[in-house]
Amino acid sequence: MTPVVLPIHSRSGGYRVAAGGSPVEALVRARGSGQVVVLVDAAVLRLHAEAFRQAFGPEVPILPVVASEQTKSYAAITPILESLLDAGVRRSTVLVAVGGGIIQDLAAFAATILLRGLTWRLVPTTLLAQCDSCIGAKSSINLGRHKNQLGTFHAPEEIHLSDGFLATLAEEDLRSGLGEVVKFHLLAGPDAFACIARRLREGIPADLSDLVVASLGIKRPYIEEDEFDRGIRNLLNYGHTFGHAFEVASDFSIPHGLAVALGMVAATRISAARGWCPEEHAREVEAVLAPLYRHHARTVAHASLEVMIAAMGRDKKNSADRQFVILTRGPGRMEKVQVDLMREIAPALGDFQAWLRRD
Ligand SMILES: NC(=O)c1ccc[n+]([C@@H]2O[C@H](COP(=O)([O-])OP(=O)(O)OC[C@H]3O[C@@H](n4cnc5c(N)ncnc54)[C@H](O)[C@@H]3O)[C@@H](O)[C@H]2O)c1
Ligand SMILES: [Zn+2]
Repeated sequence: MTPVVLPIHSRSGGYRVAAGGSPVEALVRARGSGQVVVLVDAAVLRLHAEAFRQAFGPEVPILPVVASEQTKSYAAITPILESLLDAGVRRSTVLVAVGGGIIQDLAAFAATILLRGLTWRLVPTTLLAQCDSCIGAKSSINLGRHKNQLGTFHAPEEIHLSDGFLATLAEEDLRSGLGEVVKFHLLAGPDAFACIARRLREGIPADLSDLVVASLGIKRPYIEEDEFDRGIRNLLNYGHTFGHAFEVASDFSIPHGLAVALGMVAATRISAARGWCPEEHAREVEAVLAPLYRHHARTVAHASLEVMIAAMGRDKKNSADRQFVILTRGPGRMEKVQVDLMREIAPALGDFQAWLRRD
């Protein structure tokens, strides 16, 4: 099958996403013809063992890694770098990463520092990684209890998608990816938002490939215009400042995309309370997102407000004395706004928690 190709312009020369075909076809495309080493999510290797057997001969080293926030850490990088060197990695070796956002972050970080920079290719296997994190070139890893505080910009050379990987994904991880899909469609404007609202009314769509390609198409101009996240790319963070606070306060028990979904509902409600958008828009956003995040609403409703506000104070968008969040004037009209965390956001988040507890 001929894949859909999406080129991404980047200061490092550009890279491309090829979407379509079976998991074996995506792995074969990522393998290419030179020397490769594969870093793979252990669960993906187990679930798709036959595809790996067909795509890689016995000469290709395959290193499985358990995907967890503990493995996505500075401490866990050392054994991964050692295994890569033990597997015979040289500067000409291409690192092929197969997995979700966790494997992507680890591989991108390792590829940046090993032998002063390796070429790497990515086969994202979660909806979140396919529709969002696979483009944009960021890596973030944890340093002890400081989440996502180390990182680099190092784009993969190629990204190969197959929706066949999504067939084995847990429903919770599908819903998490859909949180980001909705975010992109909200950013794209009223028509795109109405379209995703309609699609999700019947539950999780059986075929997600067009939503993945549409989401990447919406994200692309933001990262091309502002590759290093100093300006317009900040808007892709809609729902994330609140979402990150919910992740921290729940000790990361809420999957990223679902924390972002709750974060978008909070941000839209706060925007409506400021008179920036109609109450009706906040209700529409909630109606689309509640079926995705409903299992986690209680956790946020009872989370510590103090912990959430402290987490928001550490957001990467902030400067030493100024705090920012992304609010909305309606679909396609997001703005980065300076806020007073204690005076405005703390009471608004308290109201949001009371609203989540309402029934
Ligand atoms: N670098 C970036 O730009 C960026 C952006 C967003 C999120 N992230 C990071 O990504 C991580 C979340 O990523 P994620 O949601 O993709 O999850 P993940 O990598 O944690 O994977 C989620 C779960 O799905 C399993 N899995 C992966 N693919 C599977 C498949 N095809 N079938 C069955 N199970 C599969 C994994 O083993 C894991 O248990 C977080 O650490 C977040 O900080 C990074
Ligand atoms: Zn996100």
